[in-house]
This record gives sequence, structure tokens and C-alpha cells, in this order.
Amino acid sequence: MNKIDGFSKLNKQEKINWLASQVVSSENNSFGFERFWHEDEQEQKIFDDFSENTISNFYFPYGISPNYSINGKMYTVPMVIEESSVVAAASLSAKFWLKRGGFHAKVISTTKKGQVHFSWQGEKEKLFNFFSVNKSELLCSVNDLVANMENRGGGIRDITLIDKTNMLDHYYQLDVKFDTCDAMGANFINSVLERLGQSLKQSAFQYAPFIDVEKEIEVIMCILSNYTPECLVKTYVECPIEDLGDFSGHMSAKDFAARFERAVKIAKIDVNRAVTHNKGIFNGIDAVILATGNDFRAIEACGHAFAAKDGHYRGLSSCSIKNGLFRFELSIPLALGTVGGLTKLHPLAKASLEILDNPDAKELMKIVATVGLAQNFGAIKSLVTTGIQKGHMKMHLLNILNQLSATAAQIEHAKIVFEDKVVSFSAVREEIKKVQLLH
Ligand code: MEV
Repeated sequence: MNKIDGFSKLNKQEKINWLASQVVSSENNSFGFERFWHEDEQEQKIFDDFSENTISNFYFPYGISPNYSINGKMYTVPMVIEESSVVAAASLSAKFWLKRGGFHAKVISTTKKGQVHFSWQGEKEKLFNFFSVNKSELLCSVNDLVANMENRGGGIRDITLIDKTNMLDHYYQLDVKFDTCDAMGANFINSVLERLGQSLKQSAFQYAPFIDVEKEIEVIMCILSNYTPECLVKTYVECPIEDLGDFSGHMSAKDFAARFERAVKIAKIDVNRAVTHNKGIFNGIDAVILATGNDFRAIEACGHAFAAKDGHYRGLSSCSIKNGLFRFELSIPLALGTVGGLTKLHPLAKASLEILDNPDAKELMKIVATVGLAQNFGAIKSLVTTGIQKGHMKMHLLNILNQLSATAAQIEHAKIVFEDKVVSFSAVREEIKKVQLLH
């Protein structure tokens, strides 16, 4: 690859041509990026404008997972994910629990946070005095920015001065709590924080006891925190153990429940298992987050920090067996939005929200957490009964057959042959070759 100046100034075709000219194996070949352009230019422009230096669209499967009962209401959930088995596993779990009372979900809290991180080299006491005298003035300085959000029932919930000097010299924070209603609210929070940073500096400058005595307040940065443990939702399923039914005809409900509970306990104590366990939960969560145009990086980052909140990374879900009842639950922070951002701009995110009956942010928190729990249930159920590969490989077989451009008849044949055989790329390729030679 060569260096290039002004890449962003090139038009889309020029960008593709430059890229093709840089990759030896793609001489006379533009990778086919144009094939994935939307045929409607206006629609394509929507996607182009989401980001920078856009040259094409990257397709992911958009799947549907039906049969979720959440607090008695039925949902059909759109999921965007490339990994085979995820939608199937979540859907099987949804159906399994539909017959056993469905999912029960509750939003515990919806507070989001951000900080003005700053340095102050003067006396601590003076800073705290200044803050208590000027707190309401600081809040007034953002009146114009919060007015709309306040009209919708949200706004700033609290602002606190935090002393962090025991961790880093001269380091303090203004810790600000927000309610952003149905918006994810990142832009709102960051604008308010930046204004608070300016006002903090300004009013400190004007505050008589500070003048000429100490160094200035130095604002280092103003930014929301994606760690939102107070934006919490809980979802669970519960049924008498005997209602769990028999598994694969050879495992009793009681044995299944005990093995399942133990698997969840292992994820609570062993980081190797915990990360994979939580990855399974996020298979479900991320897929709905993507389908609804929310920010999956923020949700993942927060979820993993939350999993380590007591200093040890643990599985996020819990299982209990008490008085003959099997209960499986997940409490997870999910800072989501159903207005603003991509939610209405991306045509499929908009469609997803419509499919979900246009939920508000709290309802979406319940749905997303529930799909995470359903996904986790499906994975553990497979792990402690048949093993994960049976279902996985069935789906993977289809991917391999597609890669080999197998015909419909060859696909049907391969499905039968590999019913009880280990699936591998080479084994499937050999089988297809064998069939081709026979015909
Ligand atoms: C695979 O994407 C996810 C699982 O590994 C999750 C788990 O092990 O719980 C199946």
C-alpha cells in the first residue's frame, strides 16, 4: 500500500479505483464493491452519510426470532448477526419458555452518567467550598441545553464533586447524572458536560477566594461514561423443575436443572468460562442492538465492566433451584435509545422498532435483556445435554455447502449424510465430489 493524501476528497469510484490499484491480487478488479451499492441513489446516500470514506455497504443477515412472551406480551424480535445457530437457539428458547410462563422483565433504573475530569492544584477545601456555593450557578449555565429534555421529563438528576486525588495527583471530577428519556442521549450528555466544563473554569476564575491565590482549574476532558450500572434491567424465567421436561430422552428434568445450575455457577467463578458464557449472552444482545440501530460497542464495554464489578470477571446470569423451582435470570446495564441516532435514519432500524411495536427505551431494555437470557439459556441447555457442536455444525454445514456452491439436491444429500457424522470443510467437499462423480 502507498501513502495517499486527500483520499477523502476522491469520489466513491475514485476511492475504489485507488484501492484496487494498491492491491496486487486485485488488478483489473475492484473487489465488486459496486455490486453492493443500493440501486436507489437517495437510499445509498443515507448509508454513505453515516460514516466517512464510504465505498460500499457490508451486508449482514437480518433474521427474525419469534415467540417471546415478555410480561405477558408477545414479541417477534429482529436480529442482525452473521453467526449461524444464534437466531435458531434464541428462537428455540423463546418457544421453550412460552409454554412455561414466558419471560418476566423489569427496568430497575435508567440513570446515565458523564464526567468533567479536571485538575486543581490548590487546597481541596477551597474547591469544595467553591462547588457548594456555585453548584446552582453551574446548573443554570446549561439551562438552554437541557430545556427540551426537561420538557420530555428528563434532564440532569444530580451533580457531585468527587475527589480522586488519592489515585492521581490533583485529579477531581464533576460527576453528572442524567435521565435522557427515550434517547440514548450521547450528544446531549456530551454537550452539557462540555458547557459545564467551561462554566466550571469560568466561575472558578471569578470566584473571589480563588483569585490570585491558586492556579486555575484545568479541565482535562468532558465525556459521558459508557459504564452505566444504574441503567439496569432484570429479566428472568421460572418454572417447577418437573415442568422442564425430559432432555434428549435420557436426562431427567431434575438432572438437567442440576447440571444447568452448575454450569452457571462455573461461569461465576472461572474467568475462562465466564467470558465465553457472556459472549453467548451478547450473541443475543448485540444482534438486537444492531437491528435497532443502537451502539453495540457501548453496550458490550459496559456489560463486561459490569461483569467485573466486584473485581473478578463473572458470568452475568444466575441460576437457582429452590423449593422445587428452577429460576434463571439476568441483570444487565443497557443504555439504549428508541429516538435519535440511527434509530429512525436507518430504514431497517426503523423497521425493527416497528416490528417490536415501537417500544420506548425501557421496553427495549426488557426485550434486549430477554433475548440475551434466551440465547444464554439455549447455549447452556445444549452444552449440558447434547453438546454445542450438534446444532452448530448443522448450521455450519449449510455455510460450507454454500461456499462449495452445492445444488439443492446435494444439500439435501449432505444433510442426511452428516446427520451423525462430524462436519468439516474437507469432509463435506469430499462428499460433494463423490456425489458429482456419481452423476
Ligand atoms: C458461541 O458463539 C457462544 C457459546 O460458546 C456460548 C457459551 O458457551 O455459553 C455457545
